[in-house]
Amino acid sequence: MNRFDRVKVLLTGAGSGIGRATALRLAAEGAAVFAVDLSGDGLAETVAAAGGPGRITPHVADVADEDAVVGAVAAAAEALGGIDVLVNVAGIHRTTPIHRLAVADMQRLFTVNAVGTALFCREALPLLPDRTGVVVNVASSAAAHGNPYMTAYAASKGAVLGFSLSLAAEVAHRGIRVVPVSPGSVATPLAGPQVLPPELDVSYYGRIRAPFGTAEPEQIAGVITFAASRDAAYLTGAELRVDGGSHI
Ligand SMILES: NC(=O)c1ccc[n+]([C@@H]2O[C@H](COP(=O)([O-])OP(=O)(O)OC[C@H]3O[C@@H](n4cnc5c(N)ncnc54)[C@H](O)[C@@H]3O)[C@@H](O)[C@H]2O)c1
Repeated sequence: MNRFDRVKVLLTGAGSGIGRATALRLAAEGAAVFAVDLSGDGLAETVAAAGGPGRITPHVADVADEDAVVGAVAAAAEALGGIDVLVNVAGIHRTTPIHRLAVADMQRLFTVNAVGTALFCREALPLLPDRTGVVVNVASSAAAHGNPYMTAYAASKGAVLGFSLSLAAEVAHRGIRVVPVSPGSVATPLAGPQVLPPELDVSYYGRIRAPFGTAEPEQIAGVITFAASRDAAYLTGAELRVDGGSHI
């Protein structure tokens, strides 16, 4: 059974990690995917991993650039003949101790993670079909659970979570679902060891309980795909925390 036959999906962050795994999973289940990312090379790798152009249409754009977002949503609607599902995965990460928090870093985190997500929602929602339209926004378990040196990142993801819950309430009358998905630790370039500057005390991270270890991107993609599917038709305005039991 192809859950996404004839379903048109606009997906950001498709050039790496969770976004790539989600693009591949959706395409494998029959979706036509309009795949947005800042990285053309990343998108080319995603298309190659899907076996070449076919179900995945790459589009380079910066989600933090308002004009680029307006253009990307219009291009997606034209290329796909409409948009049924919007999945916001694109995001960036920064770690810093609080005494070194830089305004520019914090602004970039918010602009990419929170404003980028909000802009795609603003532009795509008028096009989404009543009753079957779905928005899935990737937040983070950091939105609601403390992690040292992640204050600004966590705040930007808290913004994604709060935004998504209020949006769910706002569009419920149209029958459109909005689902925030909050991964824990996932093996992608974003979460690599280079994220933590070497002078920081990282012993905390070694002590975090992670009964199921670090996730593979495909494990998060499976949950995103579920949230976007008709199997989740009664799911909206509720965070799906996918952290392998790290915060039981
Ligand atoms: N990896 C984790 O442990 C983890 C945990 C919780 C949440 N997340 C979230 O999952 C999402 C995906 O992260 P990932 O781990 O797959 O990281 P990743 O770095 O592998 O992928 C992120 C993708 O987003 C793209 N991107 C970044 N800024 C962009 C911009 N301004 N415009 C367009 N594209 C942009 C990148 O080019 C990249 O392809 C992010 O929102 C991240 O915050 C990740």
